[in-house]
Amino acid sequence: MGRLEGKVAVITGGASGIGEASVRLFAAEGAEMVVADVQDERGGRLASELGAEYVHADVTREEDVEAAVFHAVDVFGRLDCMFNNAGVAGAVGPIESVTVEAFDRTVSVLLRGVFLGVKHAAPVMRAQGGGSIVNTASVAAVRTGYGNHVYSAAKAGVVQLTRSVAMELGEDNVRVNCVLPGFIPTPMIARARGVPLGEADGKLDVIAEAFRDAQPIRRPGHPDDVAKAALWLASDDSGFVNGHALVVDGGVSGGRMWSDYQHAVEGLERKLGLRG
Ligand SMILES: NC(=O)c1ccc[n+]([C@@H]2O[C@H](COP(=O)([O-])OP(=O)(O)OC[C@H]3O[C@@H](n4cnc5c(N)ncnc54)[C@H](O)[C@@H]3O)[C@@H](O)[C@H]2O)c1
Repeated sequence: MGRLEGKVAVITGGASGIGEASVRLFAAEGAEMVVADVQDERGGRLASELGAEYVHADVTREEDVEAAVFHAVDVFGRLDCMFNNAGVAGAVGPIESVTVEAFDRTVSVLLRGVFLGVKHAAPVMRAQGGGSIVNTASVAAVRTGYGNHVYSAAKAGVVQLTRSVAMELGEDNVRVNCVLPGFIPTPMIARARGVPLGEADGKLDVIAEAFRDAQPIRRPGHPDDVAKAALWLASDDSGFVNGHALVVDGGVSGGRMWSDYQHAVEGLERKLGLRG
């Protein structure tokens, strides 16, 4: 029996990358699902392939997020997992170049979108006696240098919102946790560098190669790595886990890699005349 048999999930940003991998994995584990995204053609195709529902939902718009939750309840009668995953890289560049509009837009997708998902899933889950909310943050939430300024700040907000709300909803058996992915080759990474939407998938191999040695685990991350963590948090296997920030990054946020440290030590020893 699948680990999500009999459960109903809404996955925002479900059309692509980590969201798409999660939709596929959750379906394989028996979940009924609403895929929510703004990429209607891609999301719709994925949903119909898997026998899931698709709704157009811009996570910055309260009525869209509320409607996605209602759709799950209307069609499937309940909501067991709300995976607030939609995201964009958002505002790029040095701080003085970040416009107020770009700041607001970035925070709106990354933090307001998660807030709205939590807000509208909470009453449904409370009323049915439990549920699991999973939010996508990032290693950029806990380490500088892994994302743009506003992205990092918004993701830190996601982690703290997760922890704070977990203390409230946990009392009603609604668990709230987040995943913190490291370097995962997805269209978002290509788009952040200016690659047009239609060409982003074609760049994933190049990005994967660039990410291969970026962390102690010497392989690129994969959307499935994060999807498996989200599955665990969504399922009853993590039934006593609440307010947790689960890092899925091959160790990149742990600190300096041993090989880099050794390289630095050797350089110092050379300067000290202790090595040739
Ligand atoms: N790829 C990484 O290395 C990485 C690392 C850490 C965190 N993340 C986070 O993972 C999540 C998924 O990103 P991904 O890497 O899979 O990228 P992706 O671009 O493949 O997927 C993001 C999805 O979110 C959707 N989306 C964007 N804005 C939206 C909106 N306003 N409303 C609804 N949907 C919207 C996109 O259409 C897309 O389908 C994001 O929250 C991202 O910040 C990614």
